[in-house]
Amino acid sequence: MQILTTPAAMRHWRLSGSGSLGFVPTMGYLHDGHLALVQRSIAENLRTVVSIFVNPLQFAPGEDFERYPRDEVRDLALLRDAGVDAVYLPSGADMYPEGFQTYAEVGAISERLEGEHRPGHFRGVTTIVLKLLNAVGPDRAYFGRKDAQQLRVIQRMVRDLDLGVEIVPCDIVRERDGLALSSRNVYLSPEERAAATVIHRALEKARSTFELGERRAPKLRTLVQSTIAREPLANVEYVSLADDITLEELETTVERPALLSVVVRFGHTRLLDNLELR
Ligand code: PAF
Repeated sequence: MQILTTPAAMRHWRLSGSGSLGFVPTMGYLHDGHLALVQRSIAENLRTVVSIFVNPLQFAPGEDFERYPRDEVRDLALLRDAGVDAVYLPSGADMYPEGFQTYAEVGAISERLEGEHRPGHFRGVTTIVLKLLNAVGPDRAYFGRKDAQQLRVIQRMVRDLDLGVEIVPCDIVRERDGLALSSRNVYLSPEERAAATVIHRALEKARSTFELGERRAPKLRTLVQSTIAREPLANVEYVSLADDITLEELETTVERPALLSVVVRFGHTRLLDNLELR
C-alpha cells in the first residue's frame, strides 16, 4: 500500500498505473461505514485510493476540529488489511498554502439545513472535495448516505462543473440497535450512547406511519420531533422533511420523493441521521 503525502505524488501515482480508479475521501478515525465504502470501491475498480484529511475549512470556530478523533496508525492498518492500493495523506500546508483564497461554492442546496446551522461548512467540504478529486483523478468516488445533504451538494458540484467523476452513494451502516455509525459516536457517554438509539426509532416510526398512508409533512415532522423529545438526554436541533433533490422544506404533503433528516444533540455531540421516503 502506497502512502502519498503531496498532490504531486498523488498525481504521479495515478498516472503510473491504468484501469479504473475508485476513491473514498475520509477524515480518518475509520469505522465499518468507511470500510463498506472501501470494500465497494475495491469490488468495482481496479485500484482504490482512500484519503485521510481532517479538513479545518469545514469546521467553524468553536466546533470540534481540534478534538476530532484521530488514529492514523490504526486507520492505515485497517486500510492495508482491506486491500487498498494507496492512501493519500496530504498536510494542512499542502491543502491550504499561505495566501490560499480560492473556494468552490454550491448555491441554494448548500444554504439549507446543515448550511443554515453550520454557515460556511459546505464551502469547506466542496473546496476540499474538489481539491482531492483534482489530485486523485478517480473514475468513481464513494460517499455515504448518512451525510445526505453533503452527498447532494457534491453531486450538484460534479454536475455543474463537469468534473466527469461518477459519485456512488452508499447505504448507511448502523449498529445493531440502529445508531448510524459516525466517528463522532466516540464522544458519547454510555448514557448518551444508549439514549441516541431514539433517533433511529423516531425515523422508523415516521417511515411506518408514511407507509400506512400518512402524507401530511407537518404531521410526520411532529411525530419525529415528539418521539425524540421524550428522551431526556436528547436535544433536537432540527427535523426536516424536504424535497429529495432541492432540499426545499415540504410545507403541505409528501407527493414526491422526500428526505426526512434530523440533527440531535446529546451533550456536546451533534448526531445526524436521515431516511428517504419514496
Ligand atoms: O464526509 C466526510 O468525511 C468529509 O466531509 C469529507 C467528504 C471527507 C470532506 O472532508
